[in-house]
Amino acid sequence: MSKPILSNSAGTLQAVALSERVHWIGVLDPNLRTFDIILKTANGTTYNSYLVRGSEGVAIIDTVKEAFAADFFTRLESVARYDEIKVIVLNHLEPDHSGALPELMRRAPQARLYISQKAQSMLKALLKQDALEFTPVLTGDTVSLGDRTLSFLHTPYLHWPDTQCTHLIEEKILFSGDVFGCHFCDTRLFNDQVGDFRFSFEYYYAHIMRPFKAFVNTALNLIEPLLPLQQILPAHGPMLRDQPQRYVQRYRELSRSALESDIGADEKTLLIFYISSYGNTRRMAEAIYEGAMSIEKVRVSLYDLEGGEIAPFVDLIEGADGLVFGTPTINGDAVKPIWDLLSSLAVVNLKSKLGGVFGSYGWTGEGVKMVEDRLRGLKLRVPIPGIRIKLIPTDEEIYLCREFGLELAQELLGLRTAKVIDLADLG
Ligand code: FEO
Repeated sequence: MSKPILSNSAGTLQAVALSERVHWIGVLDPNLRTFDIILKTANGTTYNSYLVRGSEGVAIIDTVKEAFAADFFTRLESVARYDEIKVIVLNHLEPDHSGALPELMRRAPQARLYISQKAQSMLKALLKQDALEFTPVLTGDTVSLGDRTLSFLHTPYLHWPDTQCTHLIEEKILFSGDVFGCHFCDTRLFNDQVGDFRFSFEYYYAHIMRPFKAFVNTALNLIEPLLPLQQILPAHGPMLRDQPQRYVQRYRELSRSALESDIGADEKTLLIFYISSYGNTRRMAEAIYEGAMSIEKVRVSLYDLEGGEIAPFVDLIEGADGLVFGTPTINGDAVKPIWDLLSSLAVVNLKSKLGGVFGSYGWTGEGVKMVEDRLRGLKLRVPIPGIRIKLIPTDEEIYLCREFGLELAQELLGLRTAKVIDLADLG
């Protein structure tokens, strides 16, 4: 494939040719340092928009952030007239891609808007235009531009409910929205010409796509049959024309569970994290560990948070079936290392994992209940009440901790029978 000289094109507000019929008409935002409050970017981003010319009309795939609309329209006008636009596709409605849509529809009123089924209510909420006309589409729906055809892939929750991808069949080009994108601004635009963007690609996946791994895998099931693709054109960052399939493979690798190949299909994993001031919560943790270990087919691990970094634990937690947290109560609260770990879990999907909490306390012992509430807020199941022990655990209380661990392991295997333990009965 010939490789056009791009740096001038990106700098002069001209459209950039990606093939004879496809142009990049996106914009550069090199000064952005924080995206959506949580994402950092060291050198800005791009909002990529694309124009496809067929024998019977022009299609625009995605628009740009509203503040950059002027550059977008200038690039569009360098390769097409507004009255030629027959189709507008929004693969994703987040404002960085839909910001220029109202003005584009005003300038090209004859164009038909295509969005995913799940985008319908969102579109009305974002644009506040009840009379807006559009066509919702699903996988396999197509729209013809004469000698070019757009085919839609329903790929929801990557990373909003509305997301979809669009395949330009005759050219084997995939317009992928945020999928395979990253925040990386380089006027050379293409993956074989820009600087090293591997960090940005991985960072973007980790923060945007990772919580939706199951949906990534489902989307890849639709995308992989399209390989080999000539180009993958995401909505942010470098356009992937050199070995685009590598990025599909990388998404598949990243979306596999870290423990998938190491843990037997019939085994469950239970992780116990604790921190201890005077060794009392540690003694409880060890007893819970012993109790859980007594059940076959449950792989149990014990970690002292005082000796670990958070990031590797997040990876472990993502792949685990059950999570148990041990915290003392200090000044009426669970302790900071526990909260630090829990606040780092927004990037992983915890829904329906088993949760449990325990801890030693001196006066009031609110920490256990607070962490239980947080686990429920994170969508974990917490079917077994947390276990709190005042100061140094007695032998009877250590026995209760073992039972707690055993019950958690049984719960993971679906073997638990309901049982009520009342500390008051211990006398
Ligand atoms: Fe690039 Fe989810 O917007």
